[in-house]
Amino acid sequence: MTYKVGILGATGAVGQEIIRLLHERSFPFSELKLLASPRSAGRTQSYKEHSWTIEATTEASFDDLDICIFSAGGDQSKHYAPIAQAAGCLVIDNSSAYRMDPKVPLVVPEINPQAALTHSGILANPNCSTAIALMGLYPLHKAFGLKKVIASTYQAVSGSGAEALKELEDQLHDWSKGKAYEPKVYPHPIAFNVIPHVDSFDEEGNTREELKLLNESQKILNLKTLSVSCTCVRVPVRRAHSISITASFEKAVDLDEARTAITEFKNVELVDDPQSLKYPMPLDYSERVPCGVGRIRATSVLENGLSFWVVGDQLWKGAALNAIQIAELLHEESKVHF
Ligand code: A2P
Repeated sequence: MTYKVGILGATGAVGQEIIRLLHERSFPFSELKLLASPRSAGRTQSYKEHSWTIEATTEASFDDLDICIFSAGGDQSKHYAPIAQAAGCLVIDNSSAYRMDPKVPLVVPEINPQAALTHSGILANPNCSTAIALMGLYPLHKAFGLKKVIASTYQAVSGSGAEALKELEDQLHDWSKGKAYEPKVYPHPIAFNVIPHVDSFDEEGNTREELKLLNESQKILNLKTLSVSCTCVRVPVRRAHSISITASFEKAVDLDEARTAITEFKNVELVDDPQSLKYPMPLDYSERVPCGVGRIRATSVLENGLSFWVVGDQLWKGAALNAIQIAELLHEESKVHF
């Protein structure tokens, strides 16, 4: 079985990774349609020996597709996902538009693959920090029963799109030439800085990004009792998010058991030998499938407490890779068509 596959937002930071991973992972596609805004229409996109002409997205774009991976922001998803669904095209959506919709499965294939099988044409990919945090938290949850999470994120600029990565590079370039730089994507300079602000603030002072870790984790883990406190921070890293987590569990935590649970979990690596300066870092986890977990230690601040550090490529596990893993899962289960 092969599929006609589309990418909405093909010219963006995530779209480019989707093109690459569909090829590298040998996803069974017979055709690939690259969709973006009218600004990009007619441009040529190539990958190795292949090339395509970018098409402007229209309501008819999905009529001849089996699957379309959306990565063009929430407004495009809200508009085009129901149109694609009505045309019989499966939507795997990277935006936050449908994540909390009870009819839409929110899936990390290593964690809740069974949820994907209940789809009715639209599936959601989790927030990037949530997907990466859960790759560390879920094996520990299975071993000890998760109750509470306190987290701080260290989020790479490519999570804000291709323009934000360019902004960091341009600022560094201007700085090296002694020139002043004017931020455009972020509200403050990102070079040589950290910005404790990702997404918009609510009345209580949390950002929407911070609440995603709570709401999406509850949905993916099917754990309504989970409580989460999170501070999301943008850092001048090109690629791969890191998250510092302190969690409280139902059962007493045995450190050896915790390390075994991490080691045995699919697509997670334990890198935890601080005496030899070994811990996961963004440069080591960029353009890689697994997430890395390290700095595991007990803490007395919370009952049955454990602190750790998890790193993953947010363009891959937090977006493109996870979306393609969902497509692979549905292909294996013959559940692409609905
Ligand atoms: P375009 O390059 O034509 O603007 P990023 O997250 O890296 O900023 O990328 C956003 C992606 O969403 C790009 O591929 C962008 O295409 C696409 N996009 C933005 N607005 C629209 C639109 N109105 N219709 C279709 N695609 C859009």
